Amino acid sequence: MRVGDLPTHKRLLAALAGNVQSPPPVWLMRQAGRYLPEYRALREQAGSFLDLCYTPEMAAQVTLQPVERFGMDGAILFADILLVCQGLGCDLEYREGEGPVLSTVRSAADVAALSPASVAKVVRPVFETIRLLRQQLPDKVTLIGFAGAPWTVASYMVEGGSSPDHKHIRDWALSGDAGFDGLMDVLVDITIDYLLAQIEAGAEAVQLFESWAGSIPEGLFSRYCTQPVARIVEALTKSAPQVPVIVFPRLADQAGYAEIAALSGVSAVSMDTEMDLAWAVAHLQDKVTLQGGPSPEDLVAGGDRLKKSVEHFLQLCGQGPYVFNLGHGIVPQTPPEHVADLVRWVRQGLT
Ligand code: CP3
Repeated sequence: MRVGDLPTHKRLLAALAGNVQSPPPVWLMRQAGRYLPEYRALREQAGSFLDLCYTPEMAAQVTLQPVERFGMDGAILFADILLVCQGLGCDLEYREGEGPVLSTVRSAADVAALSPASVAKVVRPVFETIRLLRQQLPDKVTLIGFAGAPWTVASYMVEGGSSPDHKHIRDWALSGDAGFDGLMDVLVDITIDYLLAQIEAGAEAVQLFESWAGSIPEGLFSRYCTQPVARIVEALTKSAPQVPVIVFPRLADQAGYAEIAALSGVSAVSMDTEMDLAWAVAHLQDKVTLQGGPSPEDLVAGGDRLKKSVEHFLQLCGQGPYVFNLGHGIVPQTPPEHVADLVRWVRQGLT
């Protein structure tokens, strides 16, 4: 479904509404983060990553850093998909070099012990960050809110952090235990409330990160990705039909991407690094705006390799509704100058 009647000075919103923009609007996943010296400075001042997320003045400043440095068309709220886990009562910690570490949820009893009613209170500073950003952002820049999709958030809760094989969540999902469906239901409900509160505070578009769509067991994609995402999108469209929803089902197969793109209420799909672009243009771009671009590794490499990739995406995707981005988030070792090059090449062409 397309969203109509949007302000035309917001190029990102125009593209998400299905209008071809030339050049396409650009923002990058993880555009705020450790590759920027100004981020590292504020992160040190905050003490911990979670303190940074929960201090609205600082989180707003970090959100603005890449917008000020590179002039992106979109600003993605600085927060994390796992804050809601803390809201549900899980212990959450980010360890240097290890990433997030959480207390585990692996049974119906563990699910029953979660506290959905306390999520809103814990994540409340995020809404204040959004309100500050709407005052501080240039009018032409679109503020993007976000959440993790249920399977991806569940994967961190069940595994207790990042995992190479997602064995525990896959086994639990395949076991047919109603406890797992109970967990997914809780996550659908809190994600709807969380995103609606972000929209109420001023988020102008939202992205659902299904970063681990690729680990959903064969045959269960519809049940644990498409259907939960559909329930969320349906609720958002009912209450906030003007706000476009971008879905990133990373490493889903073509059938999975096609299912997500066919959902009523999905305005855009974000393409991962494995996507066959010609296929996406032929089979998805008539239904949704495409979002995507070079791999994070191309961005680290920079130079000709990055330039060729930028050119490839502009040529293949730029004839239809398109938002320039990456195939996944910026990694810490990325030279900031490469991001500046990318934005310049998208805006001014490659000559
Ligand atoms: O600029 C932005 O994109 C906005 C903020 C943002 C962060 N995380 C900040 C962050 C967003 C949108 C996310 C989403 C997120 N978080 C995802 C989905 C996107 C993806 O990458 O697939 C996932 C899976 C997470 C969970 C998460 N958060 C992990 C696995 C890690 C550790 C890995 C790492 O890069 O350190 C985090 C930490 C995190 N989230 C950092 C940042 C800037 C680094 C923390 C630090 O500063 O020490």
